[in-house]
Amino acid sequence: MAWKVPFVNYPAQFREMEPEIMDTIRTVLSCGNLMLRQELIDFEEHLAKFVGTKYAVGVSNCTDGLHLSLRAAGVGSGDQVITVSHTFVATVEAIHHSGAAPVLVDIGEDHNMNVELVEQAITPKTKAILPVHLNGRVCAMDPLMDLAEKHKLLVIEDSAQALGASYRGTKGGGFGLAGCFSFYPAKLLGAFGDAGAVVTNNAVIADKLRSLRDHGRTQSGDIAGWSFNCRLDNLQAALLDLKLKQLPAWLDRRREIAQMYHEGLSALPQLVLPPAPASNGLWFDVFQNYEIEAEDSSRLVAHLRSNGIEIMLPWGGKGVHQFQVLGLGHFKLPRTERMFQRALFLPLHVELADWQAEYVAETVRLFYTGTKCSSTKSRASAVMSKN
Ligand SMILES: Cc1ncc(COP(=O)(O)O)c(C=O)c1O
Repeated sequence: MAWKVPFVNYPAQFREMEPEIMDTIRTVLSCGNLMLRQELIDFEEHLAKFVGTKYAVGVSNCTDGLHLSLRAAGVGSGDQVITVSHTFVATVEAIHHSGAAPVLVDIGEDHNMNVELVEQAITPKTKAILPVHLNGRVCAMDPLMDLAEKHKLLVIEDSAQALGASYRGTKGGGFGLAGCFSFYPAKLLGAFGDAGAVVTNNAVIADKLRSLRDHGRTQSGDIAGWSFNCRLDNLQAALLDLKLKQLPAWLDRRREIAQMYHEGLSALPQLVLPPAPASNGLWFDVFQNYEIEAEDSSRLVAHLRSNGIEIMLPWGGKGVHQFQVLGLGHFKLPRTERMFQRALFLPLHVELADWQAEYVAETVRLFYTGTKCSSTKSRASAVMSKN
């Protein structure tokens, strides 16, 4: 079925940038710069500058970035790492593969880690906190960093969904010992395949990451220990560097669409919407996803799909602890569980046209009120102001 409103639109972005993309591919391939070359170094430098950290290290994907960051920080067997269940399984998988045990805490009203619940989850074995900045919104990092300092815990950020999002002027990924980004194609900055990066202000961690991603090799040609192959290839790095220039405009567009959804849907008492971009206060959210909670959500999803709107459920509709096979079912997370019963993502991507956002909002309104009136027409000029 061809969707009237698809969830992502990769070909549209390619068409928009086709000449520059093809030039970049031609340049990289004709020079033969394929692995760990200048394009990667350039991208790492530009990414670090964008996030506001000293270093960035390109890796194969965010999952590997999280795993290597935990190892570089010395997290391993016998340790516990506190994170959330409202995340992609990758976050918890990385903790598992580091040898540490994941400890899951519930979420708050903004669907991110409820920092108030973290202190009671700390035990003598806790080594790190791994907040996940979901849906393009940074966690409440001030209280979290205070807590980490008080208990001498490391902080490693899962910023897979939050490139360019900030809290009190600091960008996600720039708070802890390391911050990990995903450049999976549907992400805020998408590669043409899998890709990721870790940012840090710590030179030792950056060095360890460069070695860990490349079989443990060091600059002198020595091997620092058993390791992995998690390199980011040069061609993806060159293309990401090209796209990085567009990112600020793309984030503005995402916020503009989020504001349109807010204006079109906030009058419906049956919905819980993300905080509106224009009212963000301490936060600058970048809307990797527009995740809503809805009454009668299964029927709403069916209604939207039957009207040509491609709807996704967050991770198939389950928190990580609800996948029995992972053995995390002993965690009781009522807010997370309630959210998954009611949550869905509305389509939000840079290529979404205004008429499509308006059509989505109107189709949702039609479901609850049976009327077509009112509209999201008042385009979100306030949205462009950044905090
Ligand atoms: C919150 C979160 N963490 C980690 C990942 C893993 O990223 P990658 O696919 O680059 O390994 C994702 C990807 O969807 C994610 O959304």
